[in-house]
Amino acid sequence: MCGIVAATARREVSEILLEGLRRLEYRGYDSAGMALIDNEHHLQMHKQQGKVAVLEQSQSMQPILGCVGIAHTRWATHGEPSAANAHPHISSQRVALVHNGIIENHVQLRKELKAEGFEFTSATDTEVVVHLLGQQLNAGHSLLHAMQATVKRLEGAYALAAIDIKHPEEVVAAREGSPLVVGVGIGENFLASDQMALRQVTDRFIYLEEGDVVQATPTHLSIFARNGEPVTRAQTMISAAVEVADRGEFEHFMLKEIYEQPSALSATLGAVADGPLIDEQFGAEAAALFDQVETVQIVACGTSFHAGLVARYWLEDIAGIPCDVEVASEFRYRKRKQHANTLLVTVSQSGETADTLAALRNATEPQFLGSLVISNVDNSSLVRESDLVFLTRAGAEIGVASTKAFTTQLVAFLLLTVALGRRHGLDEKIEQQLLDELRELPRWVDQVLQLDRDIQRMSEAFIQKHHALFLGRGVHYPIAMEGALKLKEISYIHAEAYPAGELKHGPLALVDADMPVVAVAPNDDLLEKLKSNLEEVRSRGGELYVFADNVDGFQDEQQVHVLPMPHCPERLKPVLYTVALQLLSYHVALQKGTDVDKPRNLAKSVTVE
Ligand code: G6P
Repeated sequence: MCGIVAATARREVSEILLEGLRRLEYRGYDSAGMALIDNEHHLQMHKQQGKVAVLEQSQSMQPILGCVGIAHTRWATHGEPSAANAHPHISSQRVALVHNGIIENHVQLRKELKAEGFEFTSATDTEVVVHLLGQQLNAGHSLLHAMQATVKRLEGAYALAAIDIKHPEEVVAAREGSPLVVGVGIGENFLASDQMALRQVTDRFIYLEEGDVVQATPTHLSIFARNGEPVTRAQTMISAAVEVADRGEFEHFMLKEIYEQPSALSATLGAVADGPLIDEQFGAEAAALFDQVETVQIVACGTSFHAGLVARYWLEDIAGIPCDVEVASEFRYRKRKQHANTLLVTVSQSGETADTLAALRNATEPQFLGSLVISNVDNSSLVRESDLVFLTRAGAEIGVASTKAFTTQLVAFLLLTVALGRRHGLDEKIEQQLLDELRELPRWVDQVLQLDRDIQRMSEAFIQKHHALFLGRGVHYPIAMEGALKLKEISYIHAEAYPAGELKHGPLALVDADMPVVAVAPNDDLLEKLKSNLEEVRSRGGELYVFADNVDGFQDEQQVHVLPMPHCPERLKPVLYTVALQLLSYHVALQKGTDVDKPRNLAKSVTVE
């Protein structure tokens, strides 16, 4: 996935494009570029390997200016990160293009275009698209026609934006399978992969539909549906409260976001903070749909998948509802046997993850009763296409490694557990108790944040290590998985999670003094069993790092390092232990000097398959 910004205005737009790219960097950051049409109708371009900051340097040393332009921040799929593979790509010395997505039939198209004499200068799939545009323009067609004809030749997913020196006021764009939004200004128009990139210049947006092609000049905006017919798409006004992506006093967005969790959790609880849980929190149709639900299927990717794994324990144990959880990339292609009356629940911070979106689109009736999405981004594709929506109120999450989005997803799932549990005999007293506990959750998380110093001290032991094992049992096994994911994402230490009972079936062979073993060891029914598993580690010379709220039996001694956790209600423990493991990863990465907010090779929003 990559980030696209485009502008057509009566004013100079290079700074608008750069600001848009800075805001889209979460989508990819291995190279960046922009192209503008200058006053003499020449194409001007900068492309650089590396982050948007490197592009900014080129721009400040050798400014390129213009009122019409396109820009791109890349996450490489085809072709290594390099200046040559960075977008925009150019054809016939006149047309420039940026692309987000994957062109699946690029090999055949490349062959065909090469035979026609087009020269390729990159290893990207994108370059075929710009040459197809060039082919159309050279045949005398308009830029709009060229785009409409080009997209008919493409297979795969894309958001595209192009400019042409012979149409010096115009940007054309297209969307199929990758997000693209129009920002409507006064006497100027914009396009971007995410409205956040354009909040600096407008508060009016048009969300394009699949297959749409857009023609924009400063004063005109025309949208055409897949069949070529002009269409009108609704305009949405976004509230003036612009979300400022500012680190404030924090060294990294990730740390800021870890610390924002008490307020993010409160915001997500919303009306439940001082009132009952009502079904309508999940959407107007929720009550009718929930009445029929007999099983739940959760589908998600990455950290959001881990939230689903935790939820399975709650839905089965507290609500008494059978639940399956699967990563979206597997779910979407598997021939499944679906239980009757299943609610599909997708989970996605961004609401744009390609595999999760495809899973939703494939999961139609009669297999599924309906769909619910738990997402952090209003108006995202998943939100627009689901029957029911629960919005987590975590606020913009900028750090690539998800933190506050995950814990707010857990709150959403606890509320869903209550809403469904009521219909399956959940005792009213237990419901009340659970909601009361949830209201106290922000305070408990605050207590974990106060352990920051101790966790930082513990983290020092990991800096020289190349591997780590995370162990948990029951509902804390997925928390161990999330802890391992966080560590590998941002510190590049190879980390794996195991259910502690599986230790002796393989991973024990890896245990020695160089393999730190992190144990998520809350005081619950499985604690004694977990302790025996940890003894197996100790007696093989392993170093244990134990997060525990009942420290009895965990002496801080050689080989065993204990981090005492607050004694909170059992059902809140997954959230608290997560926060502690987030801090552990953060401090390890900080001391290793990695790029905490933008770890190598990753991107925050994965809008390609
Ligand atoms: C990427 C991000 C992860 C995230 C995953 C799913 O891999 O780096 O942090 O968990 O996508 O994203 P979603 O927006 O669907 O939750």
